[in-house]
Amino acid sequence: MRSHRCGALRSSDAGSKVRLGGWVHRTRDLGGLVFLDLRDRDGIVQVSFDPARCDAATMTLAGQLTPETVVLVHGDVVARPVEGRNPELATGDVEVVATSLSVVGPAAIPAIPVARSKGDKLAAEELRLKHRVLDLRRAELQANLIMRHRLLQRARATMSGLGFLEVETPILTKPTPEGARDYLVPSRVHPGEFYALPQSPQIYKQLLMVAGYDRYFQIARCFRDEDLRADRQPEFTQIDLEASFVTQEDVQRVVETVLVDLWQEAGHEIPRPFPRLTWREAMERYGIDKPDLRFRLQITDLSAHVGADAAPFVTDAIAAGGRLRGLRVAGAADMSRKELDGLTASAKEAGAGGLIWVRRTDAGWEGQGAKALGAAFLGAVTGATGDVLLAVVGADAVTSPALHAVRTAVTRRPGVTPETAHAFCWVVDFPLFEHDPETGAHVPAHHPFTSPHGDDFGFLESDPGRVRAQHYDAVYNGNELGSGSIRITNPVLQATIFQLLGIPADEQARRFGFLLDGLGAGAPPHGGFALGFDRIAMLLAGAPSLRDVIAFPKTTAARALFEGAPTTVNARDLEALNLMTRTPRA
Ligand code: AMO
Repeated sequence: MRSHRCGALRSSDAGSKVRLGGWVHRTRDLGGLVFLDLRDRDGIVQVSFDPARCDAATMTLAGQLTPETVVLVHGDVVARPVEGRNPELATGDVEVVATSLSVVGPAAIPAIPVARSKGDKLAAEELRLKHRVLDLRRAELQANLIMRHRLLQRARATMSGLGFLEVETPILTKPTPEGARDYLVPSRVHPGEFYALPQSPQIYKQLLMVAGYDRYFQIARCFRDEDLRADRQPEFTQIDLEASFVTQEDVQRVVETVLVDLWQEAGHEIPRPFPRLTWREAMERYGIDKPDLRFRLQITDLSAHVGADAAPFVTDAIAAGGRLRGLRVAGAADMSRKELDGLTASAKEAGAGGLIWVRRTDAGWEGQGAKALGAAFLGAVTGATGDVLLAVVGADAVTSPALHAVRTAVTRRPGVTPETAHAFCWVVDFPLFEHDPETGAHVPAHHPFTSPHGDDFGFLESDPGRVRAQHYDAVYNGNELGSGSIRITNPVLQATIFQLLGIPADEQARRFGFLLDGLGAGAPPHGGFALGFDRIAMLLAGAPSLRDVIAFPKTTAARALFEGAPTTVNARDLEALNLMTRTPRA
């Protein structure tokens, strides 16, 4: 039906006869002459209808076109006179003089506008998610999805080039523990039994290593029923990989290659290898395990300077095992009281009792926190005129998140510029277990298949909290891009870890027997990684939300508004599945 794409026409096409198909973006009727902006995936071209070139019926039809109608146009490409060129359109040097027009897809009045003028605000997101088809016509979303496509193709080419085999793993599975709730699918043929949608292909990729596939990857869809945030979706995509006979550095080299290639695909050259930080260093210097290294500002331990004349809340907290930690921000003494109150609010929101601050003037340190810190402290702490010292006292579990929040807010001050646009790092040596404050139990910091650090085996039973894991995260500008680890390949050690996690032998056999059997069938040492692909696409597209790089995303309440999922099902379907719902909904 078409000879060209609308957005592809250039001055070199002048003189050609063309057949175009597309959507009516906008029309202008200049009384006698009708201009149509015709849009397709490649862009927009101006089509003109002139009574000298087309018949009366065509002129009437052109004058009546409504937005988003699909039309076919035949015409001639002509160069626009210099003064008529539109530098804002890639096709702006030409226009198509129409000879015929037909409407092939009439359109109802669009619920949200697709064509926007400069300065027009987007419709509310909920409305855009409901009318997703219209929103997907927006140039920004099209550009994002085209970028996503390119990144996917590049990832595939890179992984395949490195000798990784793309293997698809099941979607109807047995539950995999990645820390979230499973989406369950009832089995009709086995009443009362359920499949789980995979939270990740973790166990399958390990079994593929046991089976001798050596290097695996997959662009894998994962499903997690968890409380959603802006950077999470209930179903999302990972670039998932696993390799045999590797160390963690080998896996990191592969992941660096993928990331360097993906960033290059988006037009950015990034240096490698990425710097490495231990989890402990990251927490100490930045208060978080995904530090934003675009900024140099670091947390320091100020406890040693605290003297007996500090306020009791400071000395008591230190006596109880806490620390006074802080950020010295150079040249920030011009911070207003309002700004300092804002930083205090950030610290409090992150769980601290408050924020202690002093400013350095030529006369020394002064300000709200001078009394609390005491003269001995202020005399001992070095600083330059113009510095602001922002401090929090308490246990690390309090000071770390609070100072991370304050650091983040400080780096967002107007005029603060990053040292670099792209700051990658590896965070390594995570703890193997986290302590669940609610139940008091140990939970895996990553997942239960992660191998303990070789030097820490001795603490597994005596002091599990101290055991480091062979677990590593890739971090970019304060975002966790992905996680991976070297896996446990000894079935006895795997059973010990399950035991430590409170999974008794019979439950181990029931839930993970197939993995334990696999590990006992001749397992090579192996490890792997998974990159959050949606997150990468979002960051590289400069999009504010994962929803802007997923064609049909869910809301933060896990609903697909355009189709109305999830939904109730009729009694007959439930019956066939041997299910009953407790609270029937209208
Ligand atoms: P993990 O659970 O850390 O590791 O997931 C890896 C990466 O996937 C992304 N991610 C998400 N993206 C969008 N929405 C979500 N709900 C979501 N959850 C996770 C993140 C995260 O860093 N099997 C292990 C990997 C391994 O050990 O090889 C795993 O899934 O970017």
